[in-house]
Amino acid sequence: MGFRIKTFEEYQQAYQKSVTQPELFWAEIAENFTWKKKWDKVLESDFRKANTKWFSGAQLNITENCIDRYLENQGHKPAIIWEPNNPEEQHREITYKELHHKVSQVGNMLKNNGVKKGDRICIYMPMVPELAISVLACARVGAIHSVVFGGFSAQSIADRIQDAQCELVITADGGFRGTKEVPLKNVIDDALVQCPSVRRVIVLTRSQTPVSMLKGRDVWWEDELKKVESMGNSECPAEPMDAEDELFILYTSGSTGKPKGVVHTCGGYMVYTGYTFANVFQYEPSEVFFCTADIGWITGHSYLVYGALLQGATTLMFEGVPTWPDAGRFWEIVDKHQVNILYTAPTAIRSLMAYGNEPLKGKDLSSLTKLGSVGEPINEEAWNWFSEKIGKGRCPIVDTWWQTETGGIMISPLAGITPTKPSYATLPLPGIQPCLVDENGKEIEGNGVSGNLCIKFPWPGIIRTTYGDHERCRTTYFSTYDNKYFTGDGCLRDEQGYYRITGRVDDVINVSGHRIGTAEVENAINMHADVIESAVVGYPHDIKGQGIYAYVILGTSLHDHELTRKDILQTVTRIIGAIAKPDKIQFVSGLPKTRSGKIMRRILRKVAEGEMDSLGDTSTLLDPSVVDEIKAGAL
Ligand code: WTA
Repeated sequence: MGFRIKTFEEYQQAYQKSVTQPELFWAEIAENFTWKKKWDKVLESDFRKANTKWFSGAQLNITENCIDRYLENQGHKPAIIWEPNNPEEQHREITYKELHHKVSQVGNMLKNNGVKKGDRICIYMPMVPELAISVLACARVGAIHSVVFGGFSAQSIADRIQDAQCELVITADGGFRGTKEVPLKNVIDDALVQCPSVRRVIVLTRSQTPVSMLKGRDVWWEDELKKVESMGNSECPAEPMDAEDELFILYTSGSTGKPKGVVHTCGGYMVYTGYTFANVFQYEPSEVFFCTADIGWITGHSYLVYGALLQGATTLMFEGVPTWPDAGRFWEIVDKHQVNILYTAPTAIRSLMAYGNEPLKGKDLSSLTKLGSVGEPINEEAWNWFSEKIGKGRCPIVDTWWQTETGGIMISPLAGITPTKPSYATLPLPGIQPCLVDENGKEIEGNGVSGNLCIKFPWPGIIRTTYGDHERCRTTYFSTYDNKYFTGDGCLRDEQGYYRITGRVDDVINVSGHRIGTAEVENAINMHADVIESAVVGYPHDIKGQGIYAYVILGTSLHDHELTRKDILQTVTRIIGAIAKPDKIQFVSGLPKTRSGKIMRRILRKVAEGEMDSLGDTSTLLDPSVVDEIKAGAL
């Protein structure tokens, strides 16, 4: 059976085989990659202990698979096309050969700075090629990268650096996003006050934002590169990594206050992202793939960087935002670089849809062959607009469901092969065994049903641990339902067996495709001196998918609410980052609590959703009268 599925029949055969002979199935797929040493065992797994290993005993380096193996046959093909924030600045193209050279140089730069296999490196950079190069350079020398999205605050960075005990940080003086200049190095300086583990900061020049360099700790990227060049040797051998050696940590929000460091390992992640990229997008050798996600999120890791390069693709990286200089920026990029595959998020589609047809005028979108969506449920209206206005009715849309923890796409059409249905992620990829369970953990069989989405068999991209706390990984994902991985998502399976993900069933809000834990936002709000208590829930938002609604109890009644509201927003921005700012803040005198003191979020959610009449039973509340007050003051 080939690596790349070409017909729906082949899909069905592959799926069947992946269930009846999973080890053989994945071993055959793994044969399509370059290994320094083959595996002794394909799979060892015990969900009850949250332990899974793939390709034990094998050795590899993912960068050899992303770069070196393409040097001979397509060394001059662009690996990365970079489009800057400002359309007046020159774009850049980096061939596979050049990428090899640059990754080797930066790998040596890291080694010169004392980096060894297994060291953790925090990367906090704008969307410039050097970000992708840094990620790959870490992988090259066997260091574990922890990329932190450029929108996170100093406090969030400090938490992540401390958790992983990072020794080195790669950043830039600043970055551009639309009309904004983000002072990245200054933010890092604030973060590092709390991070004694960091002994070196490498700073790339991008924005010319003024920075201060700390003697003995901070060095310029450009100077370090010169040192590498003066050493003459540009080779940087790819460190042999065990299949189960850690490749990276990526922090993500859950239902508790502290973000978790999701760990992925070298072998399984490589096989899974390479395989899913090839099959879901049906990538053809000359196509240009444009993933609009930031590398700070899993989509950027798995498809902008690793998946695409593993298949020798040309991947387009965009520094800016979809609405600057105007709302036609994406379409201009598609036209300019003759993009074939566009992979974006429903929130971007909805926001661009709101600008009407004007931004599309004069843009040639005929190069597009396939479209993709990720990060949140896509509503039918957005799906149809994407299909008709962007795909002109001739590009299949792949609505890809997956998570940071799954490493790669899990439920999705294969472009042009699986018949699509608006707002449905359709069918599981070969190797993925989803199931729906009820509250008691009983599997719900048959079609035309809904429940909580679990996966009952391991796949190569599965989360291996949460950094430094394996028990947390077990309790979060593997203990809710016996012997199953629990996704945290609600889901329905229609009469045809197609899956539709309906949204989170835990205390996680999905704002513009970004996961935010309600407890995290509450903790941040509670840091404000005047706040006694708060409760945060999500509510439907036209553009963002979900918005953040905060109920806040203040200490005294003598408050200028407008001022306090602004203060609270600032506090959240300072503690987490602007992405976690509540859209609505309602000041209340009490919260609906049970006699045991538990906040009844169901009621708060209903009020936030505007469904005042269906609050259900409130008689078990400690003080049912607060509900009337909350209803009366609803925003
Ligand atoms: C949601 C992003 C519906 C879901 C790759 C999941 C989706 C969470 C889809 C993971 C989709 C992602 N349809 N919902 N196609 N894709 N989600 O970790 O709730 O940032 O659990 O990974 O996003 O978000 P994460």
